[in-house]
Amino acid sequence: MVPVKPLGKLRLGVNIDHVATVRNARGSAYPDPIRAAKLAEDAGADGITAHLREDRRHISDDDIDRLMATLSLPLNFEMAATPEMQAIALRHKPHAVCIVPEKREERTTEGGLEVAREENSLAHFLAPLADAGCRVSIFIAADRKQIEAAHRIGADVIELHTGAYCDAFAEGRFTEADAELQRLREMSAFAHSLGLEVHAGHGLTYDTVKPVAAFPEVMELNIGHFLIGEAIFLGLAPAIQEMRRLMDEAREESAVA
Ligand code: PXP
Repeated sequence: MVPVKPLGKLRLGVNIDHVATVRNARGSAYPDPIRAAKLAEDAGADGITAHLREDRRHISDDDIDRLMATLSLPLNFEMAATPEMQAIALRHKPHAVCIVPEKREERTTEGGLEVAREENSLAHFLAPLADAGCRVSIFIAADRKQIEAAHRIGADVIELHTGAYCDAFAEGRFTEADAELQRLREMSAFAHSLGLEVHAGHGLTYDTVKPVAAFPEVMELNIGHFLIGEAIFLGLAPAIQEMRRLMDEAREESAVA
């Protein structure tokens, strides 16, 4: 395959959900995810991601209010495609909305959104968000059918779910991890060829980030759980800075390859 020149600096979106998870475990006012967002900004994050779940298990409505009031970085507001979340997004008009599937019983966002099956209703759901000036991003599996459907319903961005790749890698299933990576690589190129901006995320760690960061079409990675965990040992700013360094290193290596 002809190497594609990297399309510029890769953005790092820091997901602060799990700062709120720790806070909520004790029902205290700390640690404050907004403080983490400001620290992330100083440490080199390009954006902040927060997922307001239907059950409010981590980020709260008040967190979103405060992020919108105080954050200078763009907010990527993750939400399910429900009327309640649409109303909240329309009230705040964040830089981006990322539509994710949500199940009450899941521990985290398990799969990508079923866009192909819900095309008409999703197109209808997204139109007011796009009209309000939000960039519309859809979180999907690396699947051609879903990407084509996301394109048809007018998404600006797709975020590819990297969870299957990261899980396979973490469990030592390296042949599967390579196959997942190959699928992600091909689907990043395919989505880009349709004119979609490509983001990726879920489950990324220092061990798994570089191959994804090296895909020239990927413009942004959204990373949370690992960084908040690593912050326990390194502090949040150094944890973010190390992720940033690995992403830049991967980008530079792919440019000279
Ligand atoms: N991108 C999306 C759409 C997500 O739902 C999540 C998890 O909330 C992430 C990225 C970040 O995943 P992680 O916390 O595993 O890094």
